[in-house]
Amino acid sequence: MDTPRKVEHQQTDRGYVPVYATGVVEQPWASYSQSDHEVWDTLFKRQRELLPGRACREFLAGVERFGLGNGGIPKFEDVTRVLRQATGWELVAVEGLLPDEVFFDHLAHRRFPVSWWIRKPEQLDYLSEPDLFHDLFGHVPLLLNPVFADYMQAYGRGGMKAFAIGPEALMNLTRLYWYTVEFGLIHTAEGMRIYGAGIVSSKGESIYCLDSPSPNRIGFGLERVMSTRYRIDTYQQTYFVIDSFEQLFEATRPDFTPIYAKLRERPAHAAGDVLDGDRVFTRGDRVGWAANADT
Ligand code: PHE
Repeated sequence: MDTPRKVEHQQTDRGYVPVYATGVVEQPWASYSQSDHEVWDTLFKRQRELLPGRACREFLAGVERFGLGNGGIPKFEDVTRVLRQATGWELVAVEGLLPDEVFFDHLAHRRFPVSWWIRKPEQLDYLSEPDLFHDLFGHVPLLLNPVFADYMQAYGRGGMKAFAIGPEALMNLTRLYWYTVEFGLIHTAEGMRIYGAGIVSSKGESIYCLDSPSPNRIGFGLERVMSTRYRIDTYQQTYFVIDSFEQLFEATRPDFTPIYAKLRERPAHAAGDVLDGDRVFTRGDRVGWAANADT
């Protein structure tokens, strides 16, 4: 776990004070190569064809509204112009993953950090850190949805609080992010749909999460999710399903402090466990699951 890094000093009205590094850079748009733009176009086209009928309508509407498929890597300032007007969010370019407390601070102020660099052509299907395609295509379309936009800000504020409480609280909260923002499914009138950014930005998992008989699909429960470990190196063994973004927002509204205290006393569940009391949409047949432990 990173400790708070007070690395910059800034002159303020109250004097010369240390501030948290924000990690923000300027998007070096002019320096993208032809190949970088082609990687964006290829990935975009692939997901744009795959996702109708798979991703939720709010996500698909967001993709269209931003004009993310106009050719080449979007300029963050163009995306921000639309976003700011719709829900007050803005994009900030960053080098990559940020220390937790810096990331939370951005979200709490409705700034979404997006890696400025894009993967190489030989990494179209998998890469182990978030790049521009994952961050922008995966996360930003739903920031146009007012309820989801508020959820993300509430998450940032909750993150600052969990950070102050301690590493176990932070782990509980990180699991919530993983199983909602990154790998969430939503049960709609039209059927099961994807809203998680880690899924919509992956061709393989966009298919697997809905079509494969291997994983569990289980109704979202706050404590259930916060006490379930996850895997970062394979497709998920369990997807948690919400009924609506309102449900997610309301379920996460209460003060988590007593929940963190309670969960500390209990062992976590394995990623693939199905528990008594789960609302099971599908029970996975576990075929192909890695035998080693999850995170
Ligand atoms: N209600 C949470 C808390 O008190 C904050 C939160 C909101 C966390 C939404 C995640 C998502 O800590």
